[in-house]
Amino acid sequence: MSEDFYTTLNTQLQDLRTQHLYKEERVLRSPQGSRVQTERQVINMCANNYLGLASHPQLVQAAQATLERYGYGLSSVRFICGTQEIHRQLEQKIAALLETEDAILYSSCFDANAGLFEALFEAGDAIISDALNHASIIDGIRLCKATRHRYRNMQDLEDQLKASRAARFRIIATDGVFSMDGTLAQLEEICALARTYKALVMVDDSHAVGVLGKRGGGTVEHCGVGGQVDIITGTLGKALGGAAGGYVAGRKEVVAILRQRSRPYLFSNALAPVIVGTSLRALDFMAENPRLRQALHTNSSFFRRGLQELGFTLIAGEHPIIPIMVFEAKTAQDMARSLYEHGVYAVGFFYPVVPQGQARIRVQISAAHTRTQLEQALAAFAQVGRALGVV
Ligand SMILES: Cc1ncc(COP(=O)(O)O)c(C=O)c1O
Repeated sequence: MSEDFYTTLNTQLQDLRTQHLYKEERVLRSPQGSRVQTERQVINMCANNYLGLASHPQLVQAAQATLERYGYGLSSVRFICGTQEIHRQLEQKIAALLETEDAILYSSCFDANAGLFEALFEAGDAIISDALNHASIIDGIRLCKATRHRYRNMQDLEDQLKASRAARFRIIATDGVFSMDGTLAQLEEICALARTYKALVMVDDSHAVGVLGKRGGGTVEHCGVGGQVDIITGTLGKALGGAAGGYVAGRKEVVAILRQRSRPYLFSNALAPVIVGTSLRALDFMAENPRLRQALHTNSSFFRRGLQELGFTLIAGEHPIIPIMVFEAKTAQDMARSLYEHGVYAVGFFYPVVPQGQARIRVQISAAHTRTQLEQALAAFAQVGRALGVV
């Protein structure tokens, strides 16, 4: 055993602390919600609990019923003996929501993205990926032998499409909503370019399904590009109950090949029945209660406007992810700490999660936030922002 190895790790950890880049984890003593109990009660502004379903009584009830009916674990991967009828039902329900032919479940969207590209593309193909894409897309592309291209804007995308003309197949890969910025991919332009250059389009809609679109169908529905996106990936771990699980939706051939070849699907346990059964209820509940999405957007606009009036610098957008720019990592950490002391739980993001000098507090609004909670949170932002000289 080499002590040097552990000394090196300790030095790295110390460096992270010195550079104010060390991430602390706070322990919750309550279920997830718009207010949570830590060592104190705080208004929670950093969960992906967009529709407030994470601890909703109807979902908890559905989870209990599924547990009784289908048991706890499946102890198998899908193709051995890990597929129950509810797994297929959930795949079909996701496909119906996203208006695709079929869908396939994964343990997480991270796995869905990690297992996507390598199963479908090979040397001689090209993957053209937005520079802001989520880490799981980046890792998935790294695992694939296709040529990799990155684009920063639509002109750059067109240049990359021209540069990759010789490839057998090309796919443009993008987040539907960029999670650090809360901005939306320009799907209309992307799909138009894909048509011109005969490329496929893949969208990771983890932050948009349930959130955007008239039926909660995500950015594809919101941007009116239904039928033009070949592959949609997403998570069950955010708006749709927030437990875990991911999926890929697309043409039936795509799903069929993934079932045969996608490594996180073939070599990892089936999604637990309790998550599958509860996700089915989450999708129905969302369809039955469009007012949840309306409440989410009313809350988001209210909070965004309030922050603007206080003088904070925001990244403009329409999504419940609201980034409040403070630029320096230390300011982001100080601000998060001070907000917490004022009863607001919001997290600072800094390098390497966002580029150097682009540190921010990112808040995420939920349909479950009450107007009083949002007003209290704005009052805390005002006090803390002034004290730190951010406004
Ligand atoms: C855009 C995007 N894709 C994928 C993921 C991963 O989702 P999951 O938690 O299901 O692995 C996330 C979560 O952070 C995300 O923001």
